[in-house]
Amino acid sequence: MTVLVTGANGFIGSTLVDKLLASGYSLRCLVRKTSDLTWLQDLPVTYSYADLRDARALGDLVSDAEIVFHLAGVTKARDQAGYLQGNYDATVNLLSACAAHGPKNQRFVYISSQAAAGPSLDGIALTEQDPPHPISLYGEAKLRAEQAVLEYSRDRFATIIRPPSVYGPRDRDVYVFFQTIAKGFLLLLGSGAQKISLVHIDDLVNGILLAAQHDAANGKIFFITSEGAYDWQTIGQAIAAALHKQPLTIKVPLWMLQIAAFFSVAFSRLQSKPALLNWDKVREMKQPSWLCSSALAQKELGYSPMISLTEGMEQTARWYRDQGWL
Ligand SMILES: NC(=O)c1ccc[n+]([C@@H]2O[C@H](COP(=O)([O-])OP(=O)(O)OC[C@H]3O[C@@H](n4cnc5c(N)ncnc54)[C@H](OP(=O)(O)O)[C@@H]3O)[C@@H](O)[C@H]2O)c1
Repeated sequence: MTVLVTGANGFIGSTLVDKLLASGYSLRCLVRKTSDLTWLQDLPVTYSYADLRDARALGDLVSDAEIVFHLAGVTKARDQAGYLQGNYDATVNLLSACAAHGPKNQRFVYISSQAAAGPSLDGIALTEQDPPHPISLYGEAKLRAEQAVLEYSRDRFATIIRPPSVYGPRDRDVYVFFQTIAKGFLLLLGSGAQKISLVHIDDLVNGILLAAQHDAANGKIFFITSEGAYDWQTIGQAIAAALHKQPLTIKVPLWMLQIAAFFSVAFSRLQSKPALLNWDKVREMKQPSWLCSSALAQKELGYSPMISLTEGMEQTARWYRDQGWL
């Protein structure tokens, strides 16, 4: 069976590729000429070079794919247009190619984000039934892409996965937290009391595969998350234990983050690059909780999170050490 993976060279995409190969699938990886292919090196996959913003380039790539895993997306952009082009336009272009050239029974799996749903209110984990209320340009673009996928699912199989923050080998976002703790500091942003959902990459990849395999997933959205609601102190302590460190806890107040965001945004404008810290990020950090429930995926897909926070952080720390990242 041939499957197409977009975003195949990225953190989640490359881990999905490994799992699909181990399961015997024949793979076509959609990458760009400029993509870093480190994680795909020496793998028995076919590369197809295309930029998803260019609709004309996509027809041939989807014509023999029985499943399309669409992971390509933009989490950091300079402005709203950048988020929309990288998430919404890219998804619409791919859907149009699938509708025009893909086999009728092709399955389309879209990796959206918890950001499309927005923060959890009153500390209660969001379900797929809760009305979406994104608070970032990224979340708005992901939500619009979701709406296009749901529209498409009226004619053909399509399903949506919403991961919360993902951690594990190859990740470079939660990695920053590992780096500061390895240097002896546990930085708590704002009050440090914010509670979030997290998912280990292996649990997420299992959830993505289950969604592709279940007929009942058509036209539906699933949060795929690990168990638990964690504040940053708890996450930091799990990382510290995995690194055998006793870091000094430093609280960084929100006003300091706002000043840092001001300079980061100004600097990024000068450099014409996306800011590392922007106003959306600060707004996200201000929310008391970002919790979501995978109860629906557990009920309808048989999904079951396997990796505890302790185990996941230990495995991830080992990987960073083995790679010389720490
Ligand atoms: N990591 C998380 O915590 C998290 C949480 C929730 C949802 N997600 C979603 O999961 C998906 C994968 O995330 P990730 O963490 O694996 O991100 P990543 O490592 O940054 O990978 C993103 C991938 O998308 C590709 N891409 C971006 N724009 C493209 C375009 N116009 N045409 C073709 N390819 C394009 C990138 O290619 P290049 O290498 O060429 O740039 C890269 O392969 C994204 O859609 C993201 O929104 C991630």
